Amino acid sequence: MNITIIGTGYVGLVTGVSLSEIGHYVTCVDINEEKVKLLNSGVSPIYEPGLSELMVKNADRLYFTTSHEEALVEADVVYIAVETPEKEDGSVNLTFIERAVEQIANYISNDVVVVIKSTVPVGTNQRIKSMLPANINVVSNPEFLREGSAIHDVFYGDRIVIGSDSPDALKIMRGINEPFGIPIVETDLNSAEMIKYASNAFLATKISLINELANICSRVGADIEEVALGMGLDSRIGTQFLKAGIGYGGSCFPKDTKALVNIAEEVGYEFGILKAVIDLNDKQQHVLLNQAIKDFGELNGKTIGVLGLAFKPNTDDIRNAASLAIIPELINLGATVKAYDPAAMGQAKMVLPKEVLYQDSALHTIESTDIVFILTEWDEIRELDLQEYVNRMKTATIYDGRNCYSLDEVSQYPIRYFSIGRKYQKRGRLL
Ligand code: UDX
Repeated sequence: MNITIIGTGYVGLVTGVSLSEIGHYVTCVDINEEKVKLLNSGVSPIYEPGLSELMVKNADRLYFTTSHEEALVEADVVYIAVETPEKEDGSVNLTFIERAVEQIANYISNDVVVVIKSTVPVGTNQRIKSMLPANINVVSNPEFLREGSAIHDVFYGDRIVIGSDSPDALKIMRGINEPFGIPIVETDLNSAEMIKYASNAFLATKISLINELANICSRVGADIEEVALGMGLDSRIGTQFLKAGIGYGGSCFPKDTKALVNIAEEVGYEFGILKAVIDLNDKQQHVLLNQAIKDFGELNGKTIGVLGLAFKPNTDDIRNAASLAIIPELINLGATVKAYDPAAMGQAKMVLPKEVLYQDSALHTIESTDIVFILTEWDEIRELDLQEYVNRMKTATIYDGRNCYSLDEVSQYPIRYFSIGRKYQKRGRLL
């Protein structure tokens, strides 16, 4: 099968490379010349475990080009995996999708199946179908990839969703996807689009619920880690996505939750629970900062170390990360901010205030600080010896947004330690 992928961003590249691994000839097209050059030389522009290896292994079945004509003229199946950015009002910008559809209409010569991977509002696939000649079928095939384990998720995901009103197109998509050996859900176009939003809305809600419970736990003297374990063992609840912290970030949950609220509004429905989830997440990202202000009165003149800038470990992605919400405020409040992340400092430098002092290690970051904020639970940060905080900080004071240390362990040290939904240890030498 000749498969063309439009867009070599995160989703497009991972999808294209994975399809080449199961034997398809894949052409990926992107307008960015430098990126295409890099890809043709066998180098991945993104950091994703396993991706580079598969690119090298399947080099004879993978080709990258900037020419839509070249990519589309012999295609049997065309995947659209371009970005769908958020507009100011939270709705979805479909300009890139529309351009891709125009290119398809211009250059295809076969009765191709057009597969929409990008996350698009309900009804978009039907609209795309109406923009294309009648012999072209459209399939909605949303992705559920997590950054940092995207390749794993393609081969070991929980389900593959394919939606279409054409039995022929569904048959072709079944043929492409069966080798992955993952349950396939076949449905209509609108339901497939909705499954993607509904899944992310559910997961975001689960995170906000556990964060709310955590905020109550710390006030009533319960421990959220114990509570999450006790809840999660109920198979109807499940243990995953019950990790309390400083809120969700990334490219998907924040964007998709807002888009779904918007989609509901468009049809005259107020999605109350999801609106609350979005507000709560914004609040949660400020929990550490608010506590520090409460404890210190003001942060003017304080030196603050920030450990972790990425929205989660094992990625250099900082989109909607708590670091973006907190660091500019710290600087506005007059604090000096030292920061470290094992992978995301390059990205951070492009968007965070220029006053941030980037460090080459976690140890240098905590050196001579008044306060340390832990924002991302990288292994390297979780494994930092607590004695180092005691030795290096002016007075060891940690606000841990990811519950990296056990309270038993912390209690062995003279450290003031605030975490999420657990007992506040105020044994710092200050007190
Ligand atoms: C998510 C979805 O998991 C994926 O299916 C979808 O296609 C894209 O969005 P991703 O953004 O890569 O994937 O990250 P994920 O691992 O799901 O984490 C998202 C955010 O939630 C992170 O900021 C993480 O720290 C936070 N999170 C996750 C929690 O705070 N607690 C949890 O228990 C789980």
